[in-house]
Amino acid sequence: MEKDTLILAIESSCDETSASVIKNGKEILSNTVLSQIESHKRFGGVVPEVASRHHVEGITQTIDEALTTAHTDMEAIDAVAVTEGPGLIGALLIGVNAAKALAYAYDKPLIPVHHIAGHIYANNLEEPFEFPLMALIVSGGHTELVYMKDHLNFEVIGETRDDAVGEAYDKVARTIGLPYPGGPKVDQLATEGEDVYDFPRVWLEPDSFDFSFSGLKSAVINKLHNLKQKNEEIIPENVAASFQNSVVEVLVHKAIKACETYQVNQLIVAGGVASNKGLRKALKEACAEHQIKLSIPSPKLCTDNAAMIGAAGHYLYEAGLKADLDLNGKSSIDIEEFSVE
Ligand code: KG4
Ligand code: ZN
Repeated sequence: MEKDTLILAIESSCDETSASVIKNGKEILSNTVLSQIESHKRFGGVVPEVASRHHVEGITQTIDEALTTAHTDMEAIDAVAVTEGPGLIGALLIGVNAAKALAYAYDKPLIPVHHIAGHIYANNLEEPFEFPLMALIVSGGHTELVYMKDHLNFEVIGETRDDAVGEAYDKVARTIGLPYPGGPKVDQLATEGEDVYDFPRVWLEPDSFDFSFSGLKSAVINKLHNLKQKNEEIIPENVAASFQNSVVEVLVHKAIKACETYQVNQLIVAGGVASNKGLRKALKEACAEHQIKLSIPSPKLCTDNAAMIGAAGHYLYEAGLKADLDLNGKSSIDIEEFSVE
């Protein structure tokens, strides 16, 4: 019988301090997530310096808890995987330094993981990948369509030219007076409203798989100003429903077109906005109609967590990819550079 592979994974790219133990790239033995949302709420968004400080305070305890919950210890761990980037540089450095210290002290390989590759691999923890596949990444910092021929083979076929979809959600939420992070609240309000404002759908050039959300965000803000000036009533539920319909229609249309153009076996969805109820429902219906296999992780694996980093880290470990102890966090890195032939 082959020995199990245990990866200790660490994620600290934004406002969640997380550690996880993953067995054989598939089984989550633990996934400890320490969220900082309550602390950042009072500022209306993530304050990088505050995030770094919380990561420093919480990282050791989070790693200890992940190992304890998994009923294991550092001696039994095969490799330490960590988010190298993209993300907030000060936040990333806390996770990277913790991972380097453990890798050095226990003489374990250090595996650098791209944050978005992690989001994509969250799917593989619940439903095995079926290649070739298309990944729709919708998070607070990214909106991308990534084509994968095989494990660790990433080709970006489309991306946002301005705002990420989660960022647009958070800005619209703030405009209608909702606290950070507004995405889930807009999603909830949308279920109680109607699409009465008919906001623009930004398609860009006919063959483009790129996205643009800043025009839509401005259209929402302008509409609210106009209504206020005319002393007309603003119904937040209707604003949310109208905004969400515009976002969802564009995302679903482009994702389906990408799947058909690249003839994939599976569409997977990743990132915080993948837990959006409206998007999940619309993708389900469109995929059923076009006979495309759809896979979306459960909500707790959609937002930032270390299990997804361990899931991707496992395949990088198997492929023999390792970092030296001079590894640094990187605020921006291209996912295509993470492809392993
Ligand atoms: O992937 P994630 O946890 O962090 C990044 O890597 O960016 O995504 C966070 C983003 C935030 O913008 C949050 O508002 C958004 O995901 N989000 C949602 C929903 N849940 C989280 N947006 C819309 N609907 C949701 N249900
Ligand atoms: Zn993320």
